[in-house]
Amino acid sequence: MKPVTAKLNNTSKRVNIAHLIHLTRKMSEEEIDLESLEGVGSVTAQKLKDSGVRSVLDLAVRGPSEVAEITGWDLRKATDLCNTARIKLVEIGRLEKDFVSATDLYKKRQSVERITTGCKNLDDLLAGGIETQAITEFYGEFGSGKTQLCHTLCVTVQTPHDQGGLEANAVYIDTENTFRPERLVGIAEGRGLDPDTTLKGVTVGKAYNSAHQELIISELGEYIKSNRIKLVIVDSAVAHYRAEFLGRGTLAERQQRLNRMLHLLLRTAEAHSVAIVFTNQVQSTPDVFFGDPSKPTGGHVVGHTSTYRIYLRKAGKNRVARMVDSPYHPEREVLFVLNEKGVDDPPQETAGRKK
Ligand code: GTP
Ligand code: MG
Repeated sequence: MKPVTAKLNNTSKRVNIAHLIHLTRKMSEEEIDLESLEGVGSVTAQKLKDSGVRSVLDLAVRGPSEVAEITGWDLRKATDLCNTARIKLVEIGRLEKDFVSATDLYKKRQSVERITTGCKNLDDLLAGGIETQAITEFYGEFGSGKTQLCHTLCVTVQTPHDQGGLEANAVYIDTENTFRPERLVGIAEGRGLDPDTTLKGVTVGKAYNSAHQELIISELGEYIKSNRIKLVIVDSAVAHYRAEFLGRGTLAERQQRLNRMLHLLLRTAEAHSVAIVFTNQVQSTPDVFFGDPSKPTGGHVVGHTSTYRIYLRKAGKNRVARMVDSPYHPEREVLFVLNEKGVDDPPQETAGRKK
């Protein structure tokens, strides 16, 4: 009798441990079925899946107005669904609670990763590099180095951690047809890296118009998860909107669409812990009598969504980068150059930081 009891006890212990493991293991967002959410039937779930909303995280990233459009629901019902998705994500520890202590936020900030720009001066300006979970905007006139910087970041993000990279891949959303794979090859070679490996680490999405750009961005979540993406570039973010929405009559719609696209980018950065970098052009403001009359396009909508804004301008052979807007960086300028390495520190004689 004794051995049987012992065996039984062992089995029940095993079952209990298995049960405990099951209970304590955190579910992933994929394991929460969309149909288990209140109000979502099989037809709605299918509509959502057809539009690329496959998980509760996708629901939270897309937001109420887009969910309303996909499902045909009114905004109130869509908002309730997105809030339910958010609550589920908080429960499984995938998103933070509505009220978080500064200590917890401080801990979370420690998990922010940084991608080197490959240029010490620019890294100093950015307090270590481009941050994940944030949007960094580079704006400036033609030839100021925006596209070169984007190409460089696609190379540096792939480098090992001890060289300032994240050993991860990049997505390059190209709206102006200025992505050049041969430039990636050149920059990789200039930095002593293998060009073939570098090319494999970059995926390009060519956006032919603003609606196409929004479609590509809305599909990013799935791609980021399955391809180890840590950097998403949009070069340039506002160009299609400027070209398509002409005249004052279309301004409200343009700003609304821009706002939605940029917020989708911001939620993607936060939910998937990736760095989002976008470029922006400048326009001249004739009413400025003193100082630089150039200002970034897209108005307040763009200014308020970017976490960090950096203004690039030409200064002879050099380029100047100025931190214009940041929650914690001081406003200051540094020098950099464009060369075979992409963006780089100036040669020794012109090096040094401007105040
Ligand atoms: P727009 O997109 O027109 O608004 O400009 P941008 O800010 O994106 O400019 P971009 O980054 O394309 O910079 C173009 C400049 O980079 C050129 O004028 C060159 O000075 C420089 N450049 C591009 N390729 C090379 C290169 O291989 N070697 C060197 N030394 N400079 C380069
Ligand atoms: Mg460019």
